[in-house]
Amino acid sequence: MQINLKIFRYLPDSGNKPHYDKYVMEVNPTDRVLDVLEQVRADNDPSLAYRRSCAHGVCGSDAMQINGHNALACKVLVKDLDSTDITIEPLRGLNVLRDLIVDMEPFFDHFRSVQPYFINDSELPADGKERLQSPTERERFDDTTKCILCAACTSSCPSFWADGKYVGPAAIVNAHRFIYDSRDTAATERLEIMNEATGVWRCRTIFNCTEACPRDIKITKAIAEVKKAIITGKLEN
Ligand code: SF4
Ligand code: F3S
Ligand code: FES
Repeated sequence: MQINLKIFRYLPDSGNKPHYDKYVMEVNPTDRVLDVLEQVRADNDPSLAYRRSCAHGVCGSDAMQINGHNALACKVLVKDLDSTDITIEPLRGLNVLRDLIVDMEPFFDHFRSVQPYFINDSELPADGKERLQSPTERERFDDTTKCILCAACTSSCPSFWADGKYVGPAAIVNAHRFIYDSRDTAATERLEIMNEATGVWRCRTIFNCTEACPRDIKITKAIAEVKKAIITGKLEN
């Protein structure tokens, strides 16, 4: 099939303004958008820049806007776009470093700010081996363990676009993952971070994040649970 492809191009400090390169290409309907980008690099322009690593929806490095929606280029098939016009642009709300590559540092700063790691300084149980958890306790935070830090959610959130200080849905998802882990002891501290001016209250329940997540995490639900825990002072099962 033939597609009309438009790709955002920009190299800050080059003196050139942001622009779109256009290509008319023959592709297979079952090609992924990532395959199309690889084809452009191989046949037309090796200077085209984008991130990719696993090519199988695991590493989270190739999130970008495809026809206006955030997605992983390696998970979107050309035939599923329902259009032969395909526009590829970088994620919104993060500065472009080059072409489709954005500066992820502010995103990871927000992620780090919620203490996204296991905290428990108490003695290990008598057998000295592991802290046990029931299947039900593990299930409580299973959904938010699935995050691959692709930034598709945070960079689709209008509250984040309006103010990049908002910690953003990805950071809240990762806070949720540890707040609801029965073995962790720092839930109160994380809820205090979530209650700050840059925390969960900036969320206006717009749902773009949930729609954008390639891992189908119920992000808005997780945010609502964190808000409720702050208000009630309790973690509900
Ligand atoms: Fe990506 Fe989903 Fe994690 Fe957001 S919550 S960073 S969209 S995997
Ligand atoms: Fe933004 Fe998602 Fe809330 S899009 S406003 S974080 S529900
Ligand atoms: Fe790893 Fe797409 S390249 S998720």
